[in-house]
Amino acid sequence: MTIQDILEFTKQNNIPTINDEAWELLKNTLLNNQPKSILEIGTGSGYSAAKILECVRTYTYLDKISFTTIEIDPDRFELSMGNLKALGLYQNAEMILDDAAAILGQYVLENRLFDLVFLDGAKGQYINYLPQILKILPIGGIMFCDNLSFHGLAKSGKDAYHKMRTIAVNLQKFQKAILKSPQLKCKIFEAGNDHVAICQKNLKNGKI
Ligand SMILES: C[S@@+](CC[C@H](N)C(=O)[O-])C[C@H]1O[C@@H](n2cnc3c(N)ncnc32)[C@H](O)[C@@H]1O
Repeated sequence: MTIQDILEFTKQNNIPTINDEAWELLKNTLLNNQPKSILEIGTGSGYSAAKILECVRTYTYLDKISFTTIEIDPDRFELSMGNLKALGLYQNAEMILDDAAAILGQYVLENRLFDLVFLDGAKGQYINYLPQILKILPIGGIMFCDNLSFHGLAKSGKDAYHKMRTIAVNLQKFQKAILKSPQLKCKIFEAGNDHVAICQKNLKNGKI
């Protein structure tokens, strides 16, 4: 089993993964900042988790860092756990089956900090996670947000259309909020047919 095998499986089964262009940006962010504690929101198949761990391995030993990933869907959680086990990376990942909102709240209460947060869960929730993410980032910490442009308004059904529209509106609110936050310095990059935001926390307190 290789990481490429996971990618093939996700393509055949319509499971979303980070695209190649966004991965290049995330890889460079990892290499440039060498975070020691990483939080991923949205494990999916475990594809990006495996890519992150393989990348981290190029700048430090995996037992010197902490990598935590949260997934809400039990089937995806099982799938990702199996994939990381098959790649021999399971022991280097703290895998959590839960709603990211609840876990973020817990980390805030515990004052747990992460050098890098990779935000790749429910796109409509990014705006709700922002206040908590700001609290778990130390000064200099990085928030990497995938899929800022939510492409593909629903082609089928009014309900689906409404749901997509809500996600798109929430993503616009999120983008505005990060760009005007005095706590963050953000840059938006094109990544394939989408955009990512790479933000660095530069102030301890302040309005979002
Ligand atoms: C885009 S996929 C993640 C892709 C993965 N990071 C990769 O690149 O391989 C988003 C994942 O977030 C999960 N998700 C959605 N809402 C969530 C929540 N509230 N808490 C945790 N995970 C959530 C979905 O089930 C889905 O598997």
